This record gives sequence, C-alpha cells and structure tokens, in this order.
Amino acid sequence: MKFPETRPRRLRMNAVVRGLVQETRLSVEQLIYPLFVCPGEGVKREISSMPGNHQFSIDTLVEEARAVKSLGIPGIILFGIPEKKDDHATSAYEDHGIVQDAVRALKREVKDLLVVTDVCLCGYTSHGHCGVVLNNEIRNDASVDLIAKTALSHVKAGADMVAPSDMMDGRVVAIRQILEKSGHKNTPILSYAVKYASAFYGPFREAAESAPAFGDRRSHQMDPPNAREALKEVELDIEEGADILMVKPAGPYLDIIRMVRDRYPVPVAAYQVSGEYAALVAAARLGWLDLQRTALETLIGIRRAGADIIITYFAKEAAKLLS
Ligand code: PBG
Repeated sequence: MKFPETRPRRLRMNAVVRGLVQETRLSVEQLIYPLFVCPGEGVKREISSMPGNHQFSIDTLVEEARAVKSLGIPGIILFGIPEKKDDHATSAYEDHGIVQDAVRALKREVKDLLVVTDVCLCGYTSHGHCGVVLNNEIRNDASVDLIAKTALSHVKAGADMVAPSDMMDGRVVAIRQILEKSGHKNTPILSYAVKYASAFYGPFREAAESAPAFGDRRSHQMDPPNAREALKEVELDIEEGADILMVKPAGPYLDIIRMVRDRYPVPVAAYQVSGEYAALVAAARLGWLDLQRTALETLIGIRRAGADIIITYFAKEAAKLLS
C-alpha cells in the first residue's frame, strides 16, 4: 500500500478521529502524588526548587490530601521530615514518628485515599545516608534491619503500601518477612527496584532535607549506564516478594521501563522525579516552554514506555487537564 491510496493524515484530521485511534492513554487513576510532612501546626512551606510543592504539618497535610483525592488522584506517597535526626535514624521507626502520625491522621480523615509510604533512612540519619554508617561505609545488613523495622511501623500505623527506596540488598525480603511475622500478609510492597544514582534528585533533597553530609549514594543506587543490572534488581525483588516494581527516574530511563514491562508480569511504576519536574517548571517560568503541554507529553511518554503507574509532582495539574 502506498500513496495516494494510503494517507496517514486521514486519521489525524480532527480531534474526534485522533481520539479514536490514540494508542496510549493517560488517566488520573494511574497517578500518585508525592507529599512531604514535617513537624508543627499550620505549616505550609513552599519548596523553593519545586514550586507548587510544600512541606506540610499534619493538619495542613490532611487538607491537601483531601484536595488531591477530590481531583480524582487515587493515592499519595508520603515522605517525612523528622524533628530529630541521629546516627541510627531512630525517628524513622518510632511509634509516633512524623510519618506514622501522619498516616494515622490521613487514614482517619481522608476516605479511600491510598497512602503509600516511602521507606528509607536518609531523611532520619544525621549524616543523610540511607543506612547505618560505620568507618565511612554504608553497612548493608544493619541498615536492612532498621529499614524493615521502619516499614513495619508504617504498616502498623495504617499505611496501605510501603515503598522501600534505599537500594540496600535484601531489603524487600526483610520487609516481607517482618510483615508476615506480624500478621500483615496483605500489604503490598512497591519496590524502588531500579533506582539510579541520579542528579535529578537534587530538588527533592531540599524538600526532604536529606542530602548526604559527605560522599554520595553511588555505592547503593545504580550506575546510570547500566541496563542489564536493572533486570537483575527486578528479578531479585520479585523473588523477594515485591508486588509492584518501580523504575526511577522516569524520563532518562524510558528504555528501562520498557524492558521491565516486556519481561515481567508485574505492574510497573515510574517515578518522574523532582529534577524532571523542576526543569520543566523553570523553563516555563522563563517563557521557554508551555508547561501544561510539555508536562502531559512527558507523562504520556512514560506511559508509552510501559509504565502502569506514574508517581509525579504534576499529578494535580494533570488531573485538572485530564478532567
Ligand atoms: C529517598 C528518596 C529519594 C527520592 C525518593 N526517595 C532521594 C534520594 O535517593 O536521594 C527522590 C525523589 C525525587 O527526586 O523526586 N532515598
């Protein structure tokens, strides 16, 4: 078949036909919105490198979560900024830690909102590393014990799903076992299975106050040039009992999302991270890009690559545009 019989433009001539033949769709049910909770009352502090996103105290967080839910967004992922930090991240696994108390409030006050908690120690350690540091080394197994303990404390407080983001080896099975032992066999684990050591996390570290005081995260997060290694991480996490696998960041790693989607029969999530958001917002503020159109284009690209679920700071804007 060739021209003039074949004219692909026939199916692009108007919005109705374009709508009919659209291969990939983006809908609000696929989005999760990140929220940051901090101590205090009445706090709503804008994060300067992530305009439109804030640190909330529990009371204002509940209001924000209600607004998020009313836009049709099904869930949030919660990050905590604790009152105190120490070498062993004690505030990460306290019964009344910031995340635990926030989860209780959200589950009590906001009906049918899925509450996922990010499980990591970097926001809770005085040095900002994702684990226990001894002689300048981030210790894997000691960190995993604390990470599992943290996950359990979130679930006890009512978290619907836990999302370990630390990239220590063996954390998924440790979380699965501690949840089994304590009778929480139905809580899904959304594993940050493939998390790259990315420069795109910059703005988040301001938001979560979690920048490492020395060194970096390259001894545990993945090296950006590697793809085979992503498959190995995914395979391990599935074996260890993860239910949903995440690739992070999203935009620079669309090939990885596609590989995971094609090879494993599990839901795939992608995290469009703080720097991906900040770059578009900054360009739009300079008048260089149309924010609404570029934001939706990045999200549809992530869907086309194969992501079932997208965690994005654009969730609220996208929900409004899609409705
Ligand atoms: C915690 C964590 C990070 C992000 C999610 N969980 C930061 C990091 O690994 O340094 C990044 C999210 C974003 O940039 O939006 N380990």
